[in-house]
This record gives sequence, structure tokens and C-alpha cells, in this order.
Amino acid sequence: MIENQIEIAVQIIRNGGLVAFPTETVYGLGANAFNPLAVAKIFELKERPSFDPLIVHVASIDDLHALTENADRNVIRLAEKFWPGPLTIVLLKSKLVPDIVTSGLNTVGIRMPDNDIALKLIRAANCPIAAPSANKFGQLSPVSAEHVKKQLPNVDYVLDGGNTSVGIESTIVSIEGNVCSLLRPGVITIADIENALPNTFIFNSEKPEKLIAPGLLKSHYSPVKPLYIICNKAFCFPEASGFILHGGKDFIHKESKIIYTSHTFNYLEIAANLFSALHAMEDDEHIKQIFIEPVTEVGLGIAIMDRIKKASYKYQLA
Ligand code: TXA
Ligand code: MG
Repeated sequence: MIENQIEIAVQIIRNGGLVAFPTETVYGLGANAFNPLAVAKIFELKERPSFDPLIVHVASIDDLHALTENADRNVIRLAEKFWPGPLTIVLLKSKLVPDIVTSGLNTVGIRMPDNDIALKLIRAANCPIAAPSANKFGQLSPVSAEHVKKQLPNVDYVLDGGNTSVGIESTIVSIEGNVCSLLRPGVITIADIENALPNTFIFNSEKPEKLIAPGLLKSHYSPVKPLYIICNKAFCFPEASGFILHGGKDFIHKESKIIYTSHTFNYLEIAANLFSALHAMEDDEHIKQIFIEPVTEVGLGIAIMDRIKKASYKYQLA
């Protein structure tokens, strides 16, 4: 019974432990956001650099007010439109938020996940939950409980909610008055934000002066095997290759493993299945390298290509 699992998880959170839990995007590795010692364990287990701040998860829009004093009209409008859902809003933090959560920044990222188990957990624990994705730093994000256990076998507890539905991490925006900046693309696009905030200047900070969100690192979300973007389907692919395709039916390579994230280039399907496909290729001992088909960078395609480029960055052919 999931209710019993949630009760166990709540006790662990209250006692300063770590619980991996499902959200609609990817699994999170959670601790009580108001307990700095518990939050420190997240950095330790993930081997995450201390300069990389965490997102705080809440269960209602009202919970915003404990975390920030800057929940103005635009913020509430975004929250009402997109929460619960895959949008993280970065705001000036209140004094209640420990510095370790924000890596010393004066801002905090906040979101309300669209997942019943996550919402029940936050409500029953009666505290906001700080959680990065439940993977080792830089590696593939987990979209199932099994993916979490593969990378973090020593986590105190994993709440198993099956596969996540959205499959890629939340869109991140920072907002100050009438200026809203996109820090990480996701399924909620710039056009969606523009529609919700018609009188606001939306700034796409693809090339920030300084690193404000390590999700903007060029290499991130990487499998442990080489991953290459397919540029030329006539390329002479090596033996033991895995192919991740999204609908390119003309592309058949005998004796190779092929995983389709979609058969019709449906971007929601591709996003939902992208990390699962990468995990499956990573886990298959017969596969030595992975080739992935690119998508067109429009709409949700921008977020999908963001993850694909970062996952393959280390292995770019010169
Ligand atoms: O969908 C998601 O956002 C998932 C689920 C678990 O909620 N979480 C997630 O967390 O992707 P993580 O830690 O893997 O990525 C969060 C990103 C990091 O790149 C971090 O630098 C950025 O959010 N971030 C967090 N707080 C920030 C802040 N105050 N200012 C700028 N960036 C921030
Ligand atoms: Mg992550």
C-alpha cells in the first residue's frame, strides 16, 4: 500500500533522513528543507558540488510565503497557471531557508510537483522538501525507482511511484518584477510563459554572463557510455551500437539495438521516454556506444535537444 510507504517516508524525513520520491518530471532525492544537516546529506550522497543549489518542493501556493517575501502578482499568476506542474520559480529567499539549500545564493527555486505521492509526502511531512534529481551528479536523471536504486543504492528509502509521466526536468524561470528569465528549458515553453505574463519582459538567458544554474553546464545528464548525435544516417556505424530514434523509420541497422522514444516525432512522447531509453542503453552490456537522432529545436524540441546536447557533450566528434 502506497499509504504505508508514505508513512515510512514521512518518519525518515522527520528524522533528518533522505527519501527518493516520484514527481511528474524525474525522481527527486528529498530532505526536510528546513533541516541543514539533512540537506547536507543530499550533497554527500549525490556527490554534488556545494555550489549547485536545490529546488524546494511545496504542496500548495500558500507554502510560497514561508520561503519568500517576493510572491508578487506575476509570481502568483505563474503559480496559479502552472502549479502543480513542471515549473520552478526562482525568487529572493526568506530567512527561513537555510543557506545550504541555495548554495549561499540569496534566491531559492520553488516548485509544486504534479504527482499525488509527492504532494501527500510533503503534506504529511509538514515541511517543504528540498530535492535535486535523484542521480549521481552529472549522470542520467532517474525516471523510475529502479533508476534511483542503480545510482544511489544507499539512499534511506525509495518511494516507488512507477515511471514518471513528463520525463524531463522542470522549466526554471527567475522572476523579479516585470523581468522573467528562462534558466532551463522544459515542457513549459517560453511561449507558455509569455501567454501567462503578457506584460512582462521574458529574457532567454541561454548564454548567461556567469553560471546561475548548473543545469546550464554544457555537460550534464550523461550516460556512462559514449553518446553521439546522429548527423548522417549513411555513416558507417561501429559494431555494438545502440540507436535511439524518434520516428525515423527509414533508418534500420541490422543486428543493432533500436529503441524508439516515439514513432511519430511526438515531442511529449520523446520527452517522456528519453531518459528511460538512455538508461536501457546504459544497462545493456552488449552496447558499447549509443547514437541518438536529433529533433528540431522548436517548442518542446528546445528542451529535448538541450538534454541530448548536454548528455552527448563529452563525446562530440572533433
Ligand atoms: O523537475 C525538476 O526540476 C526535478 C524534480 C526532482 O523536481 N529537480 C531537478 O533538480 O531537476 P536538479 O537539482 O537536478 O536541478 C535543479 C537546477 C540546478 O541546475 C540548479 O542549479 C538550479 O536548478 N537552481 C536551483 N536553485 C536555483 C537558484 N536559486 N538560482 C538558480 N538556479 C537554481
Ligand atoms: Mg539534476
